[in-house]
Amino acid sequence: MLLRGLWPTSVVLLASFVLRAVAVSSLAGIYSLVQRRIPAHANSFTFTLAPVGGSSFDSFTLRDGENGGIQIDCGSVSGCARGLYTYASEIGGVDIWWTGSRLDRLPATLPPVGAPITRSAIVPYRYMFNTVTFSYTLAFSTFEDWELLIDWMALRGVNLPLAWVGFEYTLSEVFHEVGLTDDDIADFFSGPAFQAWNRFGNIQHSWSGTLPTQWINDQFALQQQIVPRLVELGMTPVLPSFTGFVPRAMHSLYPNASIVNGSQWAYFDPLYTNDSFLEPFDPLFTTMQTSFIEKQQAAFGNVSHIYTLDQYNENNPYSGDTTYLANISSATFASLRAADPQAIWLMQGWLFYAMESFWTTDLVEAYLGGVPGNDSMIILDLWSEGQPQWERLNSYYGKQWVWCELHDYGGTMGMEGDFYNVTASPLNALAASESMVGMGLTPEGLEGNEIIYDVLLDQAWSPTVINKTAYASAWASRRYPISQLPSGAVSAWDILASSVYDNQNQLVQTPPKSLVELTPAISGLTDLGSIEATLPFYDTNTTLVPALKMLLQARNESEVLTDVPEYQHDLVDIARQILANRFTDLYNTLITAYKSPSTTYEDVSAAGRPMLELIADLDSVLLTNENFLLARWINAARSWAVGNATYADYLEYNARNQITLWGPQGQISDYASKQWGGLVGTYYASRWEAFISYLVEVKENEEPYNATFVAEKMLDIGLQWDNETWAGSWGTEGDSWDVAERLLERWGLV
Ligand SMILES: *[C@@H]1O[C@H](CO)[C@@H](O)[C@H](O)[C@H]1NC(C)=O
Ligand SMILES: *[C@@H]1O[C@H](CO)[C@@H](O)[C@H](O)[C@H]1NC(C)=O
Ligand SMILES: *[C@@H]1O[C@H](CO)[C@@H](O)[C@H](O)[C@H]1NC(C)=O
Ligand SMILES: *[C@@H]1O[C@H](CO)[C@@H](O)[C@H](O)[C@H]1NC(C)=O
Ligand SMILES: *[C@@H]1O[C@H](CO)[C@@H](O)[C@H](O)[C@H]1NC(C)=O
Ligand SMILES: *[C@@H]1O[C@H](CO)[C@@H](O)[C@H](O)[C@H]1NC(C)=O
Ligand SMILES: *[C@@H]1O[C@H](CO)[C@@H](O)[C@H](O)[C@H]1NC(C)=O
Ligand SMILES: *[C@@H]1O[C@H](CO)[C@@H](O)[C@H](O)[C@H]1NC(C)=O
Ligand SMILES: *[C@@H]1O[C@H](CO)[C@@H](O)[C@H](O)[C@H]1NC(C)=O
Ligand SMILES: *[C@@H]1O[C@H](CO)[C@@H](O)[C@H](O)[C@H]1NC(C)=O
Ligand SMILES: *[C@@H]1O[C@H](CO)[C@@H](O)[C@H](O)[C@H]1NC(C)=O
Ligand SMILES: *[C@@H]1O[C@H](CO)[C@@H](O)[C@H](O)[C@H]1NC(C)=O
Repeated sequence: MLLRGLWPTSVVLLASFVLRAVAVSSLAGIYSLVQRRIPAHANSFTFTLAPVGGSSFDSFTLRDGENGGIQIDCGSVSGCARGLYTYASEIGGVDIWWTGSRLDRLPATLPPVGAPITRSAIVPYRYMFNTVTFSYTLAFSTFEDWELLIDWMALRGVNLPLAWVGFEYTLSEVFHEVGLTDDDIADFFSGPAFQAWNRFGNIQHSWSGTLPTQWINDQFALQQQIVPRLVELGMTPVLPSFTGFVPRAMHSLYPNASIVNGSQWAYFDPLYTNDSFLEPFDPLFTTMQTSFIEKQQAAFGNVSHIYTLDQYNENNPYSGDTTYLANISSATFASLRAADPQAIWLMQGWLFYAMESFWTTDLVEAYLGGVPGNDSMIILDLWSEGQPQWERLNSYYGKQWVWCELHDYGGTMGMEGDFYNVTASPLNALAASESMVGMGLTPEGLEGNEIIYDVLLDQAWSPTVINKTAYASAWASRRYPISQLPSGAVSAWDILASSVYDNQNQLVQTPPKSLVELTPAISGLTDLGSIEATLPFYDTNTTLVPALKMLLQARNESEVLTDVPEYQHDLVDIARQILANRFTDLYNTLITAYKSPSTTYEDVSAAGRPMLELIADLDSVLLTNENFLLARWINAARSWAVGNATYADYLEYNARNQITLWGPQGQISDYASKQWGGLVGTYYASRWEAFISYLVEVKENEEPYNATFVAEKMLDIGLQWDNETWAGSWGTEGDSWDVAERLLERWGLV
């Protein structure tokens, strides 16, 4: 294989005593980034690797260089990248977003730094990704998509990203080596949109046809581009390892091996869950681990000693005996060390929250205690801003842990966040816990609310609590990088910062869903809390409505805002949220009309009409912006088939099923729902139309409401919709500003 040829020869590998990660000391990557994103200033930035400041963590000093250029001294490549970002965002007034890089809007004459600025990270690790982000957001990403996200991470100072792509290629090689056949392996792997949960051992098999070899190969080729890029930008990729989850055929192939069945996950039939787990104390486990890691090292080089490995994510152990648990973790860790003498085991701590009744402190202590030493593990405290576990678990009994912002479940799109929880809270934790070694982002999906992620990564470079008001203003100013930005555009963000991003409602700790996205029913929708919340936590009339008015008005004052993609994005996002919230009011009116003894079926019909109109309006505003299109997700999926229509349809089914039924029969329906143009106007519209018609019908015939019938009807609509292929436009329709203004007049109403 040509893999080793991809390696820059200048790369020098050294094991830092603090991080025990592999650090890269070539500046080629950061210079390439400048060339890629700021070509007009390709020669304006000079980076010098030199010890900076007194901190042992990544640091930089920014100062004015020669000939109007900028000099950045840094102790590491990650420090250089963060230094460049600090210049671009704080002095240059520009940024790079999930929606695209605007770094090329830096002025032709670079503004001077003035007095030199020295800063350091406050933690050794800045981590990024949840295992499931690889399916909810990144399932169909191309290298071009990755390139943007990698630059976004590098510049913000992330140095420890998870890197799952292409795992199945190496794993299937190991499976073949132990004697499993292609069919055995095909029986195990899940579809392209569901690989995260197969990797976790939650699911097995595929409900959409066997995972094509072409997919496995293409994803591996993608990882061959991703890993070197991460490394050249100073990041240590957290690489996969052998987890123990194996095809069912292993039971018969190795009748004497210690293989147990995992528990059932999320209402799936045993065909799709109860994954077979090779227990780590079985010698075969170490054989497979060693083989896996050798193959991975051969493919990507010795670029990392940090391995992701989760055995019990929403999947309880075979036994709750403390000796058993210590045995499992001890053998697992020994297998990693047999393969890589410097191995560090990284795991998501979600189970300790989600399965808290199983994971009592005794059991957690026993499981973690099986691994010798405190530096040999890193635990991600996965939802630190909402349900932190590090306090209950005594700072993971001394093991290293990372404070993580989860924030988003399933790529849900409601506007939500709490500045306090992602600024003051991690600083408090750092002061209280000696084994906290990092801060990071572990969202299930990346869908809006970018400010609430930015601020956590900025807080990781600030020893004092970031000021919310000042932060939001500065953020808005660089998000719309035009000269003489109308003050209303910034004031709009002041309002958002003190409302949707100042969420104090402890029942809603994540982006809430809109009722539009939920399976219709006559009760149980409006008062949901927890991770699929629908409870309103702010007053739309006094927050989003004036914010949208100000943003719209800003363009009247400065026409050039039209050319700022993030301005267009935000108009649509806020308009979307206003309509989504209004839908709840209309729904309540419908249910009142239906339940009232004094109303007729005509009243029910009349109450339903504006709901369907609102859905059509919501669809129309979403369709104006590329970031809110179902077509984009489907197109991304189909593109991997490069013209093979059968394969493209298979990929499209995967893409559709994940965001709707999530399972062959709606096992976790709507968990990953989206407010996307084309989805709202077809799927959600059909469901609400059918529901309203049903209510009218039973009202007219004086029949009782039949919840079973409604649920079956809704599932049928889903099964049909998932099988369709996209026949609409692939591009946007209409002008965001015009549509948002029209809809504000119609639905703003204040
Ligand atoms: C499994 O163990 C039994 C009993 O020790 C032995 O007879 C048999 O040969 C073993 N089978 C395999 C496949 O190793
Ligand atoms: C474990 O799963 C295998 C394959 O699905 C099945 O044959 C076996 O009966 C299961 N074992 C137990 C103890 O449930
Ligand atoms: C699947 O797991 C459930 C427990 O979660 C268990 O009751 C059932 O027997 C398992 N089935 C198989 C085939 O292992
Ligand atoms: C990686 O390290 C292993 C020892 O852990 C060594 O055997 C192997 O040659 C190294 N591979 C590369 C590509 O440097
Ligand atoms: C773990 O359990 C297995 C099976 O009971 C046993 O053979 C092994 O010795 C145990 N290992 C340790 C480290 O306790
Ligand atoms: C790990 O940390 C705990 C808690 O601080 C401490 O009690 C223990 O001695 C440490 N273990 C080692 C091997 O350093
Ligand atoms: C989140 O912030 C609120 C105040 O906004 C506070 O009451 C709550 O305790 C914080 N939660 C966590 C987990 O830090
Ligand atoms: C935060 O910044 C705002 C605006 O710059 C300022 O008015 C306020 O006093 C600051 N708050 C704190 C607590 O420093
Ligand atoms: C198209 O894809 C399908 C499904 O992956 C595969 O079976 C078939 O061989 C492919 N056809 C061609 C011409 O590559
Ligand atoms: C409710 O609908 C289900 C599914 O269509 C049907 O089997 C059942 O008989 C209905 N119940 C009543 C009380 O009509
Ligand atoms: C969806 O497609 C599958 C496979 O082609 C087929 O078995 C199933 O009946 C279809 N379902 C619907 C509701 O059209
Ligand atoms: C918000 O405005 C709408 C439309 O004018 C009105 O119906 C609703 O009562 C208002 N809500 C609140 C909480 O004031």
